[in-house]
Amino acid sequence: LNSPLELYTTELGGKTGISPYKIKVERRLSDLLDYFSDREASEEILRGGEDPIIYEVYEIPFEPLEGLLNVGCTVIYPGKVGDEYYFTKGHFHEKESTSEIYIGMKGEGIILIQDHEGKAVNIKIKPNVLVYIPPGTAHRTVNVGREKLVFIAIYPSDAGHDYETVRTKGFARVVLEEDGKPIIKDNPRYKRE
Ligand SMILES: [Fe+2]
Repeated sequence: LNSPLELYTTELGGKTGISPYKIKVERRLSDLLDYFSDREASEEILRGGEDPIIYEVYEIPFEPLEGLLNVGCTVIYPGKVGDEYYFTKGHFHEKESTSEIYIGMKGEGIILIQDHEGKAVNIKIKPNVLVYIPPGTAHRTVNVGREKLVFIAIYPSDAGHDYETVRTKGFARVVLEEDGKPIIKDNPRYKRE
């Protein structure tokens, strides 16, 4: 990890969104089985011998300390499981007071944002759009385009990631393709907290 006392720079753009970076994380369909709506469709793809990459994250993280900011770049591949577009798992921050900034670099997507009561909003992300994600909200990004969706995230290094709430309760809304276009629907499988 970088020392928080040392200045660094990283270049924006290219395939990894930031370069250089410190850590790369790869999420494949098998990592997201509990997240996509259509379990049958997921399992059929896996049975066919494929385990496609859904998204990659490139990061410059610090240890979790108040006052430090991490930078990450997420690359979501284009594609669908059943009718549902590829997305990130989505998470609440463990430290509820922390917020986050996203900056669109390439492609087009929809960010699903909701609080613990299930009050949900969605917002578009595309190049040169900055999105502020308020504290206490879960956030998931969905790639609704035909190319990779690339965006930068800046967030407190001590925010922490709570994936479990999203894994067990789901998101209030889903983004599906209908007649070749993305539509946002209420998720019938969402479990209110
Ligand atoms: Fe976050």
